[in-house]
Amino acid sequence: MSDTPFTFSIPTPSFIPTRMDNHITRRLSALRGQFRDQAAYEAMLEKEDTLIYEVYEVRRPEKAGELLSGISIIHPGKVGSEFFMTKGHFHKVLETAEIYYCLHGEGFMVMETPEGEAAVESLSPGKVLYVPPCWAHRSVCTSRQEDLVFYFIYPGNSGHDYGTIEQQGFRKLVVDGPNGIEIIDNPRWKK
Ligand code: PA5
Ligand code: NI
Repeated sequence: MSDTPFTFSIPTPSFIPTRMDNHITRRLSALRGQFRDQAAYEAMLEKEDTLIYEVYEVRRPEKAGELLSGISIIHPGKVGSEFFMTKGHFHKVLETAEIYYCLHGEGFMVMETPEGEAAVESLSPGKVLYVPPCWAHRSVCTSRQEDLVFYFIYPGNSGHDYGTIEQQGFRKLVVDGPNGIEIIDNPRWKK
């Protein structure tokens, strides 16, 4: 891989970076066990393995000193009353931070620490979110028709730990309640 400086653009309306090395697509089947309404999940999956989100990675060596970045696009939709979201993860090197810069749409970042401290921040175009070391993070698209799009940057040696969240879920859920968007406790969360 070349070590000379490079530039790229993030054109609208596609938000697909002009330089990218990997296009990841995650479908409903990749989120088994994460949505509160399991019957709604199974019914939806039976009809179609819906595309929930996509990531365009600008690859760099996965080592300290490098920065990994890219674009995530979370599509609008719901499973039952719960909005489409990413799997979410801790970083394998727990003490690594991440920066998100929201470019399009509306949503939330749901976060928590291994000790169970929780935080939820809204995302809207132009907003920067700093996720400190040790905080697991999941993004949720609450736009009714628009994608949630953000640019992310994190240290090259971070890695991903998906297993912890797959087992315990996040403490907070973002749902479409009778009075609009609500952040509620996850009844199935286990520490
Ligand atoms: O590094 C990040 O936190 C993001 O790039 C996410 O990886 C991306 O949004 C997809 O989410 P996840 O990795 O939880 O599937
Ligand atoms: Ni991350």
